[in-house]
Amino acid sequence: MVGRRAAPTAAGWGASVSTGEAGAEILRLGHVEYRVTDLGRARSFYVDLLGFVETGRDRTRVYLRGLEERDHHSLVLRHAPAPGVSHFAFRVAAPDDLQRLHRRCTARGLPTRWIEAGEEAGQGKALRVQDAAGLPVEFYHQIDQIERQLQRFDLYRGPHIMRIDHVNVQVPDVQAAYEWYTREWGFGCSEYTETDDRPAQLWAAWLHRKHNVHDIALMNGRGPRLHHAGFWVTDALAVLRACDIMAGAGHQDAIERGPGRHGLSNALFVYLRDGDRNRIELYTGDYLVADPDWRPIRWSINDPRRATFWGHVPPQVESILDGSLIEPTEPRLRDRPSFVT
Ligand SMILES: [Fe+2]
Ligand SMILES: [Fe+2]
Repeated sequence: MVGRRAAPTAAGWGASVSTGEAGAEILRLGHVEYRVTDLGRARSFYVDLLGFVETGRDRTRVYLRGLEERDHHSLVLRHAPAPGVSHFAFRVAAPDDLQRLHRRCTARGLPTRWIEAGEEAGQGKALRVQDAAGLPVEFYHQIDQIERQLQRFDLYRGPHIMRIDHVNVQVPDVQAAYEWYTREWGFGCSEYTETDDRPAQLWAAWLHRKHNVHDIALMNGRGPRLHHAGFWVTDALAVLRACDIMAGAGHQDAIERGPGRHGLSNALFVYLRDGDRNRIELYTGDYLVADPDWRPIRWSINDPRRATFWGHVPPQVESILDGSLIEPTEPRLRDRPSFVT
């Protein structure tokens, strides 16, 4: 499309992290909340099999964290009539950042809602926003600090999930979402996929706040939808151990894709589905992106190594849909070109 900027450049916004036009310092992805229809079954999957640490629970929610995490939670399981994602949340550097984000989002006509301290256990006042792509985003600053279990090796269980790393979302217009996240919120771009058209069209973008490959990946597709939340594990053996644990417990159907290695991000990964078919990724082996002159890495949509470096064709699978908060629309580009599938 003429006039649309497809490729991120080192000279412009999107090349590296900034405060963006909103003037807020977003630190990193902090947590995600999944809706589950059977809280006991979900707890068994995430705690008993995967070894998430349970910080606490109430009548409707279980609050979980990874082994190295000090934050009260990085994954919330909330009982609901239908599965899906309720929100994902970014931590900001100071309370003032919440006010700045509120002013900007309100001025830009986005729906916002304040969450009072304690409404989500362990969390201070927070701001919920439906972002420009329609995704349910939360910003918070204060969150209770819990003693981390990094060196309580005696308590390690499951594949040793250490921390939350990123979310991966599908949106119908990646270019528009990319512009919002880089220009307005100051995300940096580490890698991207574009078409080989002239001019090229942006297909996917890996965007970061912390200094690794991403906090959020934007992918072309029917949406807005959350594809998965990614959790970091220490090494490739942890990914294999997760598969063995799932199979040993009779949950082979939970292993959806992988183990494999992504071309984008270089990460070794496996996708797992919980009992409600919510998807998580176990993820390791990406790299540091800290320098302001980082040049985003381009992948052609026609390069099969971008999704799976070893060349395997990814399966076509349904994605998580949050029907209550976000209304999907068809993508601007084809969902997946025939030469990739
Ligand atoms: Fe939250
Ligand atoms: Fe991922």
